[in-house]
Amino acid sequence: MFQPPLPPDYSGLSPAEAADAIAGARKALGDSVVILGHHYQRDEIIRWADHIGDSFKLSRVAASGSWPTVVFCGVHFMAESADILTSDDQTVILPNLSAGCSMADMAGIGQVERAWSEIDANGGTADVVPVTYVNSTAAIKAFVGRHGGACCTSSNARQVLEWALTQGRRVLFFPDQHLARNTGVAMGLDAHQDTAMWDPALAVGGNTAERLAASTLILWKGHCSVHMRFTVEQIEQARAAHSGVQVIVHPECTLDVVQAADLNGSTEAIVAAITASEPGSVWGVGTEINLVHRLAERFPDRTIFCLDPVVCPCSTMYRIHPRYLAWVLENLAEGRVVNRVAVPPDVKPHARAALERMLEIA
Ligand code: 13P
Ligand code: SF4
Repeated sequence: MFQPPLPPDYSGLSPAEAADAIAGARKALGDSVVILGHHYQRDEIIRWADHIGDSFKLSRVAASGSWPTVVFCGVHFMAESADILTSDDQTVILPNLSAGCSMADMAGIGQVERAWSEIDANGGTADVVPVTYVNSTAAIKAFVGRHGGACCTSSNARQVLEWALTQGRRVLFFPDQHLARNTGVAMGLDAHQDTAMWDPALAVGGNTAERLAASTLILWKGHCSVHMRFTVEQIEQARAAHSGVQVIVHPECTLDVVQAADLNGSTEAIVAAITASEPGSVWGVGTEINLVHRLAERFPDRTIFCLDPVVCPCSTMYRIHPRYLAWVLENLAEGRVVNRVAVPPDVKPHARAALERMLEIA
């Protein structure tokens, strides 16, 4: 998605001016708008959020309310999911349209359709259930809905995969190979024997028909570049430097990192584990830096640090800047909708089926 430059009235706002503009517009809009903030948003955005959460929690909030306008401070696939789950007379706004997700971009609908045809031609798809991580386009969610599959998030991937394996013998999972592999291994599958990697750049994804037939999980070759930065060496260093440290990582990390950690879970699960921990406890965290910093500030009686010393924010989440929030809210207060995210009507019903199936399963 392309975001045109901000109008000059907004592009030069100081932090204090942007905050004043947001506060004024927010007050004028009252209950007609809800602001949702993903855990990876910067503090200057989170302070305005009515609800803060992981992608699953925010999907549920969007689905449960009747606010005329939802302003989603997160990335594009999250705003699309909110639009899919809300009614047609509700409007979803993403303050900066270029806030995408590089992982979601790793699976295009054309590539997914080609993969399905190739699997069909190499043993068939009758026993294959497609599952997509919510970090994917609405078109891919619709593909999954049309083919009897479901979406999942990092907080319910296991429940969804277990459900999928009651519907078929094999799962085609996209776009994150790591979430799928980590979940499969937690379910008792073998990371090598029971999985095949689907590389969309290769014919038949780089597989033989036999390999596909023998694999319970067919993993799309996608990843999150933020979570790929975490390594086993960082965990070893954290353990050497801090006795009693507990290591918690996001399941988008690689299998060796997840296995070397004490715990893994969605952003909401990371928040819950640290919130429930004893004062004095020490946490090495493998996820995006805004969340880690916020946890460290919120719990000064605990030692909380990011495993990666060269901190790495999610650069696309970071594109939601207070100036953009001020711009969309002031326009809204004056009756103009800017940056609406509207999933096409021919895509919505099937995408909704895949998301609602996830909400039912979870
Ligand atoms: P959560 O579902 O844990 O919020 O994760 C979303 C995400 O994009 C993590 O990189
Ligand atoms: Fe996408 Fe990774 Fe950013 Fe999450 S952290 S939004 S998966 S690029």
